[in-house]
Amino acid sequence: MTIPVAASARQAERLDPIDPGELARAAGQAVATVRRGVDLFGSRFPGDCSVDGRYQDREGGSQPGANIGWTTGFRTGMIWLANELRPDPTLHAAGLADVDSFADRLRRRVELDTHDIGFLYLPSCVAAWRLVGSREGLAVGLGAAEALMGRFVEPAGIFQAWGPLMDSVQAGRAIIDSAMNMPLLHWASRLSGDPAYAAAATRHMRQLRDRLVRADNSTFHTFVWDTRTGAPLFGATAQGYSDGSCWARGQAWAVYGFALNYRWTGDATFLDAARRCAEFYLSHLPADHVPYWDLVFQNEACGQPRDSSGAAIAVCGLLELAGLVPDPAGRERYRAAALATLDALIADYAPDPRTGPNAQLLHGVYDIPSGSGVDEASLWGDFFYVEALTRLILPAWTPYWLTGLEQPA
Ligand code: GLY
Repeated sequence: MTIPVAASARQAERLDPIDPGELARAAGQAVATVRRGVDLFGSRFPGDCSVDGRYQDREGGSQPGANIGWTTGFRTGMIWLANELRPDPTLHAAGLADVDSFADRLRRRVELDTHDIGFLYLPSCVAAWRLVGSREGLAVGLGAAEALMGRFVEPAGIFQAWGPLMDSVQAGRAIIDSAMNMPLLHWASRLSGDPAYAAAATRHMRQLRDRLVRADNSTFHTFVWDTRTGAPLFGATAQGYSDGSCWARGQAWAVYGFALNYRWTGDATFLDAARRCAEFYLSHLPADHVPYWDLVFQNEACGQPRDSSGAAIAVCGLLELAGLVPDPAGRERYRAAALATLDALIADYAPDPRTGPNAQLLHGVYDIPSGSGVDEASLWGDFFYVEALTRLILPAWTPYWLTGLEQPA
């Protein structure tokens, strides 16, 4: 099989593995950027997205830099990643200080009406337990899993994405992004010995597989079930171009999320879903492998912004997939696509730190319909870029999303 995006000589060149020197330089730069962020922000959290390429204190909480919103776990996760790449007592201390903040947030239930509890607590607290044996990280991680379980909606068998369970607009809505939050529940089952977390995660993933993945292997961003009867109702977008189009980051969440859930469950239909979503994603990319914000756009004439954050998520998903599929052609295809994408991100999307940005990855998009974070860096884009670099620098490394997999079920 060939990679359809490799049209030009330059693209063909990029199918080669990334030069080790280039990779080491990119990783060194990423670690330095994390360290500068810690020096700049201390215990305050930056915003979801940069403003003109620079992060500022998070707004909207009781004080600037408060631990609110859905993305703060990525800043802590990046601190842990950087500390794995280059151990540093300042990063270690900063990671543990963030765990205290997440413990306080859970105690006070600050903005936890969301499926994003996994994004918040897994790369921060569960990672702290795994990496430095934090007992607080363990207790808070388990408490977070319990909080997420409170969002399981019967008889639909899904985790509600946003808002209170009785919310008139959001009741019964699940979103494709949530596939990435199920590993927190699998980890909790392994650590606690209670199979209920994993069972709920698997039911939710079956619903995503059956309702959010369409016949053409694209995905709905969101799908709504009748909370009374459990009947599937309709798909709709929140951040994509239209209800029927395919939001690029959502497709990347699907590739990585289904692959991870296959790792946790061994359910071959999840691996198949990850592959199908990967095929749709790869066949809807522009020449440099970095998607426009919705896959309905595919060539330069569209004049639309790219979403580099979706590309970084896809790199991690494709690398995971490359290690899972049985056929050598598939393994090579997914790995080559991941490396080509990462090479483009390093060359054209990671800023030169001397030029001013304090971010890892420019030219991402948060939410075009609401006009937020357009052509900016984001904490999640930065995190998955650093995760992608870590995967290649440390080949035996286990992603935080698979922490606990080695424990007996
Ligand atoms: N999970 C929200 C987003 O990707 O924007």
